[in-house]
Amino acid sequence: MTRALYLIKQKKYSRKGNTVKNTLQEIYDQFAATYDQSRGLFDMSEVLNSFYRALSVKKGRLLDMGCGAGEPFARFFIDHGWAVTGVDFSQQMLELAAKYVPEMQTIRADMREVEFAPDKFEAITAIYSLFHIPINDHAALFAKFYRWLCPQGKVLFTYATKEYTGSDEFDGYKEFMGQELYYSHKRPAALWDDLKDTGFNIESRDYRKIGGETFLWVTVSKPG
Ligand SMILES: C[S@@+](CC[C@H](N)C(=O)[O-])C[C@H]1O[C@@H](n2cnc3c(N)ncnc32)[C@H](O)[C@@H]1O
Repeated sequence: MTRALYLIKQKKYSRKGNTVKNTLQEIYDQFAATYDQSRGLFDMSEVLNSFYRALSVKKGRLLDMGCGAGEPFARFFIDHGWAVTGVDFSQQMLELAAKYVPEMQTIRADMREVEFAPDKFEAITAIYSLFHIPINDHAALFAKFYRWLCPQGKVLFTYATKEYTGSDEFDGYKEFMGQELYYSHKRPAALWDDLKDTGFNIESRDYRKIGGETFLWVTVSKPG
């Protein structure tokens, strides 16, 4: 049994929150080397281009939550003249980002704990990261996204659903690359309610199968 799996099994029955943060952080630190070898394997150009085309400005400031190695999203936006801020709690993933996307300003932190000024970003992305945040913290995080976005700004995020975990609602552990990772999601109908209650317009919601895994890709906008 690896140390990370041992830690998860020890802490699995305690309340989520800091426990989850610590173990996921360790796991992503360990994943960094594998991630490095498999980077660029999946074609994200369609999802990147469709989000970019939908934005009301073609240059601005992007916040990438759970940025990992900064590819392909941060890289794409920097190549299109954007200023990108990336937030991630894994030091090893941020070291990859420093190698591949050195132009990105990075903040090593739990995405639930960072703060920015209102109206600071024209776009926010949370790609393959929001599904690690406990559902009880989603509404507060969506409210922050809303506050930090300029009017007409947009958020693109991936959300886990039954198509990934096998359950309508999920709050638990699922195997990924030999490790047990924490995932959390509501039913899509409850997600739409959260987003509408926050004030967002839902612009698109598509199930996409990329790299053999299906997630819900959601774009929301802040009214202008
Ligand atoms: C599957 S990777 C995705 C990385 C990148 N967005 C991509 O598309 O390649 C998930 C990333 O989210 C980060 N992460 C997960 N939970 C986080 C949290 N609560 N705060 C900050 N980063 C988090 C992990 O460290 C990891 O780098």
